[in-house]
Amino acid sequence: MITETKKDIIKATIPVLEEHGTTITSVFYGRMFEAHPELLNIFNQTNQKIGDQPKALAMTVLAAAKHIDDLDAIVPHVVGIAHKHRALEILPEHYPIVGKYLLEGIKEVLGDQATPEIIDAWGEYYNQIAQVFIDVEKDMYKEAAWNGFKPFMVKKKEVMTPEIVRFTVDAEDVDKTFTAGQYITVKVHPSGYPYDALRHYSICSNSTEDGITFAVKREMAGGEKGVVSNYLHDGIEEGDVLHLSAPAGDFKVEEDHDKLFFIAGGVGATPVMAMAEDAIEKGKDVKFVYSAINKDFQPFKDQFASLEENGADITVKYSEPDGYLNRSDFGELDGREVYICGSMRFMDTMIEELAALDIDDSRIHFEPFGPKMSLQTV
Ligand code: HEM
Repeated sequence: MITETKKDIIKATIPVLEEHGTTITSVFYGRMFEAHPELLNIFNQTNQKIGDQPKALAMTVLAAAKHIDDLDAIVPHVVGIAHKHRALEILPEHYPIVGKYLLEGIKEVLGDQATPEIIDAWGEYYNQIAQVFIDVEKDMYKEAAWNGFKPFMVKKKEVMTPEIVRFTVDAEDVDKTFTAGQYITVKVHPSGYPYDALRHYSICSNSTEDGITFAVKREMAGGEKGVVSNYLHDGIEEGDVLHLSAPAGDFKVEEDHDKLFFIAGGVGATPVMAMAEDAIEKGKDVKFVYSAINKDFQPFKDQFASLEENGADITVKYSEPDGYLNRSDFGELDGREVYICGSMRFMDTMIEELAALDIDDSRIHFEPFGPKMSLQTV
């Protein structure tokens, strides 16, 4: 166990490290990728450019340090991140690499104040938090439906809107069981791109009879074409093979939630549609409000129609010309548990609208797209 003296050293240095979090992340990632270019096959380079993911990892280590007296308390918050790690095939041997370069970032920020005692304390603490992740991930590897990235044949490629394509992929002798709300991870190597690229896509239908179904939005980040989404849209056709790791993720409807209100925007409908289909099959009461840009940009019309036929109360609102979703579109929410998925901005707005209706935070469950930085709010 880490000594009280070392805990005090860590606590005392957290504020300055948090203040200079950007320096830590840039030193950490810059040096790590220089020494281990093979890791560029795992990390999402788009998120790297935007800076969210590097920040998420380093800030999580710092945020978790506040709980150094009781690291067990972070376990529930580690689960969502560990699901992503397992889906990306992060292994125990990767942790010392991250630790080494994170520590170099910390040294850089502290400069002359980086005494051997401080660096030693942070090194020991990092090993402890890494062990929490490794232990959680070990169980996830055991429970995964399959190991590694398995080849799947593309059975169907359906253009939903100018931006969204829905794929159905299948493989023989594969266990397709998953929990509605989970995602699969696709590994591709687009021609002309120097690395493998991995992306998570929510499984968008609860039915796996014809295979696993997921949808991909053509991304344009900061005016740049998303490498993977554009490759899947333009380079992958029916009959091609895609490599998938097993379903992962902890976004799901709790068993004892029987009256549900789903809110989704754009491609954020994907996990929520599977959750709504599953809920309807289980006889739950489903109300679903969906925001699309307009009729031409409204995907999944077939799935929404089928949900409605099976008893779900569905509202679709076009932001052009009817404006953004707001509380006046929600109707009566009496006792419903709320599940939201969409962009960060969409979710923030929806959570504000729900707060204005006095819906308690404990009734709101959500899944953002992009890194969650899950531990920052612990
Ligand atoms: C994602 C934390 C170790 C690779 C993340 C995220 C966090 C995080 C907060 C974002 C999760 C999300 O998107 O919801 C940590 C912490 C670690 C750790 C606290 C150490 C204790 C590692 C290691 C590797 C790794 C050892 C591999 C070398 C990744 C990758 C992603 C990720 C590739 C997804 C990035 C992307 O696709 O953009 N991690 N991580 N992490 N982590 Fe870790």
